Amino acid sequence: MMNPKIQDAINAQINAELYSAYLYLSMAQHFEAEGLPGFANWFKIQFKEEQDHATIFMNYINQRGGRVILKAIDAVPTSWESPMDAFKATLEHEQKVTALINNLYTLAVEEQDYASRDRLNWFITEQVEEEDNCRTLIDKLRLIGDNGMGLYMLNTELAGRVYSAPSPLATEE
Ligand code: FEO
Repeated sequence: MMNPKIQDAINAQINAELYSAYLYLSMAQHFEAEGLPGFANWFKIQFKEEQDHATIFMNYINQRGGRVILKAIDAVPTSWESPMDAFKATLEHEQKVTALINNLYTLAVEEQDYASRDRLNWFITEQVEEEDNCRTLIDKLRLIGDNGMGLYMLNTELAGRVYSAPSPLATEE
């Protein structure tokens, strides 16, 4: 049987991951409407990755004989002032998610739930990458400033982002 405290905390994390997915889907729709399809593509892939994060946690609870409980997902913002505003909001959001993952890890250690701690290791590494990706794009947008050609080129670059399944799902399926 799964530790009930850990199960509740992971169920809360599943909700946070699905909120993240919904947030990035909203950003993708915003950029579609703004005529920046490359930015929309980047956020659509982010949307898929967040769904993957929720799936990894759901699979894990099921593997442990626990029970996944899905709760309501809060409403998300629907527009941003600029690409820089959207990426700053994304970085800020990812930093909050990092804190949630760190808290989960601390709980797993306190509860001596080593299997959960191991599962969380992947997420610790993933959060480093998530935050780094945002910072890189914020740096690029800072260089671009209000240069239209720069924005056009970054839009083209982001259109090339492709989705690949994260390793925990690639090896589980
Ligand atoms: Fe699932 Fe972007 O953290």
